[in-house]
Amino acid sequence: MDRGFSNARLIMFTLTLIFFTSACENAAETRATTDPSAVEKNHSPGQPSEEGKIKIGFSMDTLEEERWLRDRALFKEAVENLGAEVEIMAANEDDAKQILQAETLISQGVDLLVVVPNNAEATAAIVNKAHLAGIKVISYDRLVKNADIDMYISFDNEQVGELQAKAITELVPKGRYVLIGGASTDYNAHLLKKGVFNVLQPYIDRGDITIVYDQWTDNWTPTNAYKNMEVALKANNNHIDAVIAANDATAGGAIAALEAHGLAGKIPVSGQDAELAAAQRIVVGTQHLTIYKPLNMLAEKAAELAVKMAKGESIVADRKINNGKIEVPSVLLAPIAVDRHNIDETIIRDHFHSREDVYMVDQ
Ligand code: BGC
Repeated sequence: MDRGFSNARLIMFTLTLIFFTSACENAAETRATTDPSAVEKNHSPGQPSEEGKIKIGFSMDTLEEERWLRDRALFKEAVENLGAEVEIMAANEDDAKQILQAETLISQGVDLLVVVPNNAEATAAIVNKAHLAGIKVISYDRLVKNADIDMYISFDNEQVGELQAKAITELVPKGRYVLIGGASTDYNAHLLKKGVFNVLQPYIDRGDITIVYDQWTDNWTPTNAYKNMEVALKANNNHIDAVIAANDATAGGAIAALEAHGLAGKIPVSGQDAELAAAQRIVVGTQHLTIYKPLNMLAEKAAELAVKMAKGESIVADRKINNGKIEVPSVLLAPIAVDRHNIDETIIRDHFHSREDVYMVDQ
């Protein structure tokens, strides 16, 4: 059989499926925003809707990185497996749009709102509005700051930074480091940076490591990361020894800039998310590690908490995290560092990506 042809057909089929799914969701999104007849009657939070189902609203910031498409699908599946339903909206990294969408979800009478904030501070408005309507709010993956958020569920983001820095310092215990951060509007980027410095500070204090460039990356985009890396290379006459990039998107941008200077694969770079492109860069040697966060665990736990809280059941959280206003009951899952040595027994074993896709070989 012509493998190229069958792969092409498979890709076409997958793309058609994605377009079809997203067209349906976009249609639902448009309907929810513009057609008043589509807005369901309000009902008291915690009381099942007319169809007898608990309804969860999921307000997402972006679907830009590969991971958020997975989060969306996994969360939907997990909520539905619990006999509830979910309405999902994504705001294209636009604060005002996210607030409007959350208002729509509230007016549709969702029983509970789950939010991935674009801007950690601006989304506090969503929490206030939901609470006025008697609806509890869960922060998903990213913390909403300075708000009476009811629950926070994520991976331990400080640990993500620690794992990145630990792996890079094992390779480069002395040298000139570049830090390509995440979006400064995302509190995760700050937690991650804190984790990075937890590890780097003793090296810096000893004079072994010098931070020669340290910058946030607007919206976490590869393009902005590329520009940052270009500036870092220019400012240091290409004399850098290691790059800690906050996620795989920014790592991709940084590595493209290194590539343009013939340095890809010569300087270790970190990332986060276990995106397919990053996994491929790891096996070819241009990215040293990524941080794998098994998203099914996050989505399933969030769905379980959301449905329980929507029903008014009490929840016991493992710990509390201060968000500037209150101590938020929180559940933090453990991230896993992945490099070429353990990629098979982590992301491939878990079917996060297939072996064929990671190693770019035909089946
Ligand atoms: C998430 C990362 C993601 C980044 C950009 C962060 O808040 O924790 O997994 O790569 O946002 O979307």
